Amino acid sequence: MKPIGMIDGKIIELDENVVPMEDRGHQFGDGVYEVTKVYNGRCFALEPHLKRLQRSLREIKIDSPYTIEQLTQFHQKLLEESSITEGGIYLQITRGVSPRAHGFPDSKKYPPRLTMSIRPAAPVNPDYRKNGVKVIMIPDERWLRCDIKSLNLLPNVLGKQKSSEAGCYEAVMIRDGFVTEGTSSNFSVVKDGTVYTYPANNLILNGITRTIAFETLAPSLGIPVVEQMYNEEFMFNAQEAFLTGTTTEIMPVVMAGNKKIGNGQVGPVTSKLQAAYTKLIDKECQR
Ligand code: PDD
Repeated sequence: MKPIGMIDGKIIELDENVVPMEDRGHQFGDGVYEVTKVYNGRCFALEPHLKRLQRSLREIKIDSPYTIEQLTQFHQKLLEESSITEGGIYLQITRGVSPRAHGFPDSKKYPPRLTMSIRPAAPVNPDYRKNGVKVIMIPDERWLRCDIKSLNLLPNVLGKQKSSEAGCYEAVMIRDGFVTEGTSSNFSVVKDGTVYTYPANNLILNGITRTIAFETLAPSLGIPVVEQMYNEEFMFNAQEAFLTGTTTEIMPVVMAGNKKIGNGQVGPVTSKLQAAYTKLIDKECQR
């Protein structure tokens, strides 16, 4: 069981030097990515991740160099070659390698480039899952196309670092007075049994976990979900809050800054969604 890499479908050592100086991902952040979780040797929710990848590529005008079927096979190959059963697969596609110039190169001469890696990962901290985590609130300093899963993650990186330094799990962002999302997860609150979450527009990433939680799990549990902008005051007056994300799964949030959300305990709606999410992973990944 060892982490390995892949470049345009070919298996490589993870520490092999394969990114040329003039890869546009490296020089401009000109590319998009996906992260998929592996449970029991199988990818969870791979298809929606690959569909979102195709959308991100379209939005930045890169012709997808591979079909969903080919990308699925590459994931399978990484699983087989690495024998990793619990972990994550990272994938990125850049606009390729060409002499540095801002405008797009001729894609026939300089085709897009796919790099992937697989690494083992420990399960989500059971204490966090059970008792919840703390977050900090920070200004959302990102661009206006947060719906694209772009490689440009500097505000997210700086925000996450700030949250670690404050001893918190995540930094949750505020734009124009409204709570948007975490630096690598979506954020929602629960008030009087209803989930409130930022609308899936250009100002957040429409998370796959968020979509599963709100379009599949919540309806089957009879939990109403409202896509609505809300401010910090609304958040503190809510009874529950939680994060959703591929690596975060469904994570209760009990404090923001040094103030409790609700009574500072994990609430019933979050627990129900967590249990249903685990059940879905069990089913899809045959655990
Ligand atoms: N991040 N919002 C942002 C800004 C994210 O980066 C992510 C995922 C999410 C949750 O999306 P999903 O449920 O599809 O994972 C929301 C990944 C895991 C990352 O950057 O590592």
